[in-house]
Amino acid sequence: QTIYRKDYTPPSFLVDSVELGFDLDPARTVVASRMRMRHNPASTSRNIELHGEHIELVQVRLNGKLLKPSQYTLTAGMLTIPKAPDDVLLDIETVLAPQDNTSLSGLYVSNHNFFTQCEAEGFRRITFFPDRPDVMAKYTVMLRADKQQYPVLLSNGNLIEEGDLGDGRHYAKWEDPFKKPSYLFALVAARLVCQEERYTLKSGREVLLQVWVEDGNLDKTDYAMQSLKNSIRWDEERFGLELDLDRFMIVAVGDFNMGAMENKGLNIFNTKYVLANPRVATDVDYAGIEAVVGHEYFHNWTGNRVTCRDWFQLSLKEGLTVFRDQEFSADMIGTDTGRAVTRIDQVRTLRQAQFPEDAGPMAHPVRPDSFVEINNFYTVTIYEKGAEVVRMYQTLVGRDGFRKGMDLYFERHDGQAVQCDDFRAAMADANGRDFTQFERWYSQAGTPVVKASTRYDAASQTFELTLAQSCPATPGQPKKLPFHIPVTVGLLAADGRDMPLHVDGVVSNGATSVVLELTQAAQTFRFTHVTQMPVPSLLRDFSAPVVLEYDYSDDQLLHLFRHDSDPVNRWEAGQRLAMERLLKLTAAVAAGETLALDDTFIAAQRALLADDTLDAAFRELALILPSETIIAERMAQVDPQAIHAARQFMRRTIAAALKPELLVQYRANQTPGEYSPDALSAGKRALKNLALSYLLIAPGEQELALAQQQFDSAGNMTDRAAALGALIHSGSAVHAQAALASFYADFENEALVVDKWFAMQAAAPATDVQAVRQLMTHPAFTLKNPNRARSLIFNFTNGNPSQFHAADGSGYAFWAEQVIALDALNPQVAARLARSMDRWRRYVPALQSHMRDALEKVAGQASLSNDVMEVVSKALAN
Ligand code: ARG
Ligand code: ZN
Repeated sequence: QTIYRKDYTPPSFLVDSVELGFDLDPARTVVASRMRMRHNPASTSRNIELHGEHIELVQVRLNGKLLKPSQYTLTAGMLTIPKAPDDVLLDIETVLAPQDNTSLSGLYVSNHNFFTQCEAEGFRRITFFPDRPDVMAKYTVMLRADKQQYPVLLSNGNLIEEGDLGDGRHYAKWEDPFKKPSYLFALVAARLVCQEERYTLKSGREVLLQVWVEDGNLDKTDYAMQSLKNSIRWDEERFGLELDLDRFMIVAVGDFNMGAMENKGLNIFNTKYVLANPRVATDVDYAGIEAVVGHEYFHNWTGNRVTCRDWFQLSLKEGLTVFRDQEFSADMIGTDTGRAVTRIDQVRTLRQAQFPEDAGPMAHPVRPDSFVEINNFYTVTIYEKGAEVVRMYQTLVGRDGFRKGMDLYFERHDGQAVQCDDFRAAMADANGRDFTQFERWYSQAGTPVVKASTRYDAASQTFELTLAQSCPATPGQPKKLPFHIPVTVGLLAADGRDMPLHVDGVVSNGATSVVLELTQAAQTFRFTHVTQMPVPSLLRDFSAPVVLEYDYSDDQLLHLFRHDSDPVNRWEAGQRLAMERLLKLTAAVAAGETLALDDTFIAAQRALLADDTLDAAFRELALILPSETIIAERMAQVDPQAIHAARQFMRRTIAAALKPELLVQYRANQTPGEYSPDALSAGKRALKNLALSYLLIAPGEQELALAQQQFDSAGNMTDRAAALGALIHSGSAVHAQAALASFYADFENEALVVDKWFAMQAAAPATDVQAVRQLMTHPAFTLKNPNRARSLIFNFTNGNPSQFHAADGSGYAFWAEQVIALDALNPQVAARLARSMDRWRRYVPALQSHMRDALEKVAGQASLSNDVMEVVSKALAN
């Protein structure tokens, strides 16, 4: 049941309008639908095809006439009415049981309230409908429910009528003035309260903004509201895009599969991305709220006004909208280093999650050619690599050129369901560029490798840079053609300064950074007037999602680490220095040799730590060592225990050598006074808490007291959680247990904090699979809530490699059990967990065979969802 992009056919019938009536009841909800349909001249088929799943068909009327079962066919998933006339009025009644819907797709119940999630294919769990994004209709929705239990009734667009029904129930009628695909439909029927505000757009028009939460959470909605207002203002200023509705609502729900959903005018959010106050949320949580509120708001134009023709085009809206939310977050900080810090975070995410995906059995292009289950393709490739692809247009045509391309895209396609190619064409046409070859970023999977080599000729003062590209084979794509890769380059002089650049055939005008366009398999660029042998700074600002290989000497890397004017490459030089050593240390561990770390490296770390001219946020990032996952990606055969031991050794050595400097930074970066999540304060806390974590690696009484004191007196969750983390990792079980108990007692009624409590324990190297099983018996644990399941199970399988990969395979057996258990409840979440085994073929043989056993155990289950089946069968096949 693989679906192919090449098999696309236009819909046979279009829906002009749909009226929906809901009689909401957890056990038995009745849905009445009236669709005005007409034959699509672009289709040769006369069959009306309506998707439907997990719902009971009560009756169907065509142009007023009740259809007999002989007049339609009803198969698993599809209601087909053959030989339909041109104009059709279709009335359909269905019945469903939201309380039994544990998949959280379609209409479901969470904490006694009703919510929907329709992307990608959840609408078909509500009523029979052509549930595909290229069918766009106008919706009118009547909601009826018990007034006591569900005082709030919301749907997309504007509230046009409400009132009592006289029998203890009430109703609300909503109308969305914009045509939309079914995946953007939403309803909420709930006992909720809201923070609301009237907000004036730049045009002078006034709109109503609301953030809806459960009673008791109104002290946690300010930041989401502020982020929403910032998002509205930013889209007006940066892209000239105005909110097109009179009312914009955000609703928080505790049970949610993903981060949030951009339903037209009624965004539904995982509580994790709404609720925050200093007591319960960390700086990272605040940043996540800003980014996700922005993301969903920006979808209103990139996704909703212009949507996708089919789900293979998903990155058209997701890659573009992630790029927009990244730019929004960077602009909100507003400084150059702040922007670089957000960029470094993006690079880290790519390396941690996207590069491994691109090199594993689920590798797929940004615009996939096929899938079994679309929900499996809401991936880091579609989202984050997709955002990189969008960012490359901006790098190639500049910010103004990018804006021109966006303007043309909306001019051409507002109100349409289009393809990635249409976006590419708009960017090309608005800028007079040829982006034909650039298409390969959409069609070829895999992370390209760019190998650089250089030659300096003092006599002619020329510097030659040769760039050669290749891309590893991925499933179904043995051979790749060259990509169009922007490589931003600078040259550093011996004094650390940028040299003015002159490149043959490239307009550079003596600038200090130049964007080279690599389009061939190999190309040489010739820099002239190069008065001394430079140190090249390659791929500045991470100008393309590639692996850049260059045979840097330690001295060159140290030079870049000290001086590069591009903060991203400055950070990168530090990562390269660390990675080289980590790989050697890992090999030494495996060979049973004694471990040592050179003074040069430690001195560089010391200098950076103490350099008060640098932002704290940047220093913190520069001091974080490459993760165990990122180290593993660099090895042909992965030995997780050796990696862990090597990285721990490096951390211990740095901690011991830099103890006085760490203490100085710990003290210097305190943020007394009222908590504020701004980037400067958050950066200070990050550096201070990194120092604390180092100080607690092999702590004496003094260090333990320091962490304990921060834990006891912290005025915000960032510092509290960091102190708890430091105590958990300190090796002192007494301190760890006491702190965990007091933390739980303080926050047991804050679900999102209880998630942190589970997550921190799951990822601690002292937590083995037995301890995780023990935590699963805790009364607060449940597999049914995705956030809770992720906090414990996923943080163990993905965040605790040395325990998950225990030599006896017990971690994998546990994984198999949990995938199977979750699959019976919620296939989407189960399939995410299944992905933890993606890289199994890279591990040492003994682990591989345990991993294969676990994969086969899951694959051999009698009733497996498509979601999990696709993931495990691809893992076993590739
Ligand atoms: N469009 C949403 C977002 O990116 C994600 C929804 C994904 N839902 C799903 N079931 N896969 O904001
Ligand atoms: Zn999105």
